Amino acid sequence: MSITAGDFRAKITSSTLLDRKQHHERITCLTAYDYASARLVDEAGIDMILVGDSLGMVMLGYENTLPVTMAEMLHHTRAVRRGVKRAFLVADMPFASYHVSQREALRNAARFIKDAGAEAVKIEGGEKRARLVARMVEAEIPVVGHIGLTPQSLHAMGGYKIQGKTLAAVEQLMHDALALERAGACCVVLEGIPREVAAMITAELEIPTIGIGAGPDCDGQVLVFHDLLGLTFAPPAKFVRRYADVGTVISNAVLAFKGDVKSQAYPSDEESYHLPKETLAALQSIAQRKRAVQV
Ligand code: KIV
Repeated sequence: MSITAGDFRAKITSSTLLDRKQHHERITCLTAYDYASARLVDEAGIDMILVGDSLGMVMLGYENTLPVTMAEMLHHTRAVRRGVKRAFLVADMPFASYHVSQREALRNAARFIKDAGAEAVKIEGGEKRARLVARMVEAEIPVVGHIGLTPQSLHAMGGYKIQGKTLAAVEQLMHDALALERAGACCVVLEGIPREVAAMITAELEIPTIGIGAGPDCDGQVLVFHDLLGLTFAPPAKFVRRYADVGTVISNAVLAFKGDVKSQAYPSDEESYHLPKETLAALQSIAQRKRAVQV
């Protein structure tokens, strides 16, 4: 039986994503940070899995993504790799891993592919990253771009602010997107920009755009796994749709466990292991003999 690009089981590659855009089929993308979540997301048929540096906030409890290290990203990417068979696996390069020099950036990017099994790396920034993207692509490292509200630019942007609101900013975003495409990026994440701007960029680019807080006209959509599931502690951003309240499910399960242990309802006899009948009988007869000797 042949397996085609549209087949649910077929491996997703950067070519599949391009094909999706050409055929006006939406691309689905979610973050994952560990083996279990990666398996669930992959087995649900999501096209692209991103080991986002958002893991610093949702998994590790950092205030923002800036402290995330290469070691942390590699560790989580390896775990996700073990859970993913079909999706296109992308790893985020953390802040300062590609900002210091091209040489260091290339070496770090290669580690995601060679040591952690990622199929592409994602870096934040547009026109100013184009040369680096071209070098990575030349080194056979597929690259996903990321423009608009780029969380690693938190301090430079003066906070998490929607980007691309003025004519000049819209023009810059268009330059950024085109520069990434020309440099060889395989797709570009558009984050936190007006719907109209995302639609214009999407229409202009040949490579797919993946939106997050960028409206419905992008070629695909990405959400953070924990946002989708209601597993975060702060009020969600406007663009987040919570598909489940897993936080409450977990809290209720933990409270029920606590109550059952305190009341001795857990574990029950059925949830316990038992001695084989013969061993139990032997133990009982030893105890009986001991009691007889004492009397
Ligand atoms: O780190 C991340 O999860 C991301 C997505 C929000 C695109 O970069």
